[in-house]
Amino acid sequence: MVDTTTRKSMAIPLTAFAAGAVVALLVGVFGRLHDPTLSGTTTLGYPTVLAMKTVVATAIGVLVVVQVVTALWIYGKLGIRAPAWLGTAHRTTGATALLLTLFVAYHCLWSLGLEVGSLPDGEKVSTRTLVHGLLGCTVLGAMVVKLVAVRSRRAPGWFLPVAGGLLFSLLVLAILTSAAWYIGAKGWPGAPG
Ligand code: HEM
Repeated sequence: MVDTTTRKSMAIPLTAFAAGAVVALLVGVFGRLHDPTLSGTTTLGYPTVLAMKTVVATAIGVLVVVQVVTALWIYGKLGIRAPAWLGTAHRTTGATALLLTLFVAYHCLWSLGLEVGSLPDGEKVSTRTLVHGLLGCTVLGAMVVKLVAVRSRRAPGWFLPVAGGLLFSLLVLAILTSAAWYIGAKGWPGAPG
């Protein structure tokens, strides 16, 4: 027999995962329906939007590694006592990573969308680009799950580390299939002009 407390708390992760899946799906549908445009985007002085996103995505990559290290430290997994300021540092870098990710994802969705099959000019969409776009959509869904996990006091103890680990893994994969590929193929974008 399942007691009511367990049922109540399990409802939180289940609802969060369902909401995350719906958000990822809606972002994907928007990415297919919206007509890509460069108006309403910025390059922040870099030669192209892709170059700008590569620089910002690299910064996000660094921040999420900081997130994982500080999370392991807070959970006592590093064998060193966590200082009092660590929680604030973890929250600040996390919020910054989240805002920068929304900024990059907006630029992807608005100026390119979810590319599948062939582009209007007939060019075939590469598997890397397709995989990157799908990962990007799931990143936004995983963010919803993570935000619920962080706010919820009644969820089971495994929910926050699982939600954080999932978001970290999806973000790293989204960055590897975009910024890391860009740097490998074209080199570091250089300083803004
Ligand atoms: C929201 C869903 C997303 C969609 C649909 C999407 C889609 C795309 C597409 C179609 C490209 C062009 C790929 C190419 O032809 O070269 C691209 C580029 C890029 N995306 Fe995304 N993306 C998304 C989210 C993200 C996220 C979350 C990040 C990282 C935090 C990211 C980082 C980048 C970067 C750095 C590039 C430029 C390098 C490249 O050309 O691959 N994207 N994205």
